[in-house]
Amino acid sequence: MNKKLSWLICSLVVLSVLVTACGQKATPVPTATKPAAKTTSSGYVIPVQKCAPNCTYKDMVVGFIQTGPEGAWRTANNASFDEYAKTQGITLKVYDAQGKVENQISAFHTFNQDPAVNVIIIAADDTKGFDDVLKEAATAGKLVVLEDRSIDSPASMYYTRIGSDFVAEGQKSAVAMCDLLKNFTKKNVVEVSGAVGASAGIDRAKGFRQKMGDCGITITASQTGNWTVADTKPVVAAWLKDPAIKDFQGVFAHNDEEALGAIQAIKEAGLQPGKDIMVLGLDATKDAFAALIDGTLGADIECNPLLGPQVLDATLKGLNGDATMPSFVPSNEGQFFASQGADALKAILPTRKY
Ligand code: AHR
Repeated sequence: MNKKLSWLICSLVVLSVLVTACGQKATPVPTATKPAAKTTSSGYVIPVQKCAPNCTYKDMVVGFIQTGPEGAWRTANNASFDEYAKTQGITLKVYDAQGKVENQISAFHTFNQDPAVNVIIIAADDTKGFDDVLKEAATAGKLVVLEDRSIDSPASMYYTRIGSDFVAEGQKSAVAMCDLLKNFTKKNVVEVSGAVGASAGIDRAKGFRQKMGDCGITITASQTGNWTVADTKPVVAAWLKDPAIKDFQGVFAHNDEEALGAIQAIKEAGLQPGKDIMVLGLDATKDAFAALIDGTLGADIECNPLLGPQVLDATLKGLNGDATMPSFVPSNEGQFFASQGADALKAILPTRKY
């Protein structure tokens, strides 16, 4: 018998033994099917992940692009992501852009090329400049989530944004400033804006202007304080010396660091914040709470930085192809006033986490 014939006979014998042993016909082994890509209502095509639809936190490798250091709010925002990632076993690769959008774009590009990364989360320094890296992310199969700040790119280019409604914060600020100035005849307000290009500042400015006319507020000067005490103090000090500007009764600061810088400048000019000039900030940090308690800060509109759990939970849904996610999920926020009284504010202070 030649070799080929004996191999064929052996194979037939083995096959018939197997079929007889099982007593039934062999059934085909099912092959794993890749889930089809789904699209959210904003038109974002969710990239299909290898682990979907059963991805867990441990499958999540996040390229996290942060703005850079901006004060207590940003520190709390970072900590919220770090802590939740640690408890859930999520891998976070954090990039600190030092406040420069060009650094963010190059980090985005790097994460797009990193085969280990399946998610990119960004708090954008600017509203503009992200279209190309977003297209690149779609091609590379990376899920993109915006935390905190918005961008001008269409919502069909990212899964969702989770953060504050900054226009609403600006509107609340104007209403609160109207209340702070209710006993003043003149209502001249200077504005210390956020870093140029950031959505938080652009939208707060917009919301404030939508409501300030209700009580006759006029904005007499506006300049960036770059979110910091250090940059704000000289701006306000210069306004207080400028004959064309110094007659102002209110400071609308786009965050608490800037409000604290304004308070320092007003005190150093020999005036009394909370009496001669009313100051309003946003964030509701612990330091600002202390200023509310001593009456130097008139009102504080909360902006919630503790977004880690909410953002990372939504991200897991995206990894598993959940197309029901809205393109914007606002965070819950309150507001606080010096007029609530020191005792009431002191009772709230221990509950503040940042
Ligand atoms: O985008 C949110 C803003 O950014 C906060 O108000 C500010 O403090 C922060 O750094």
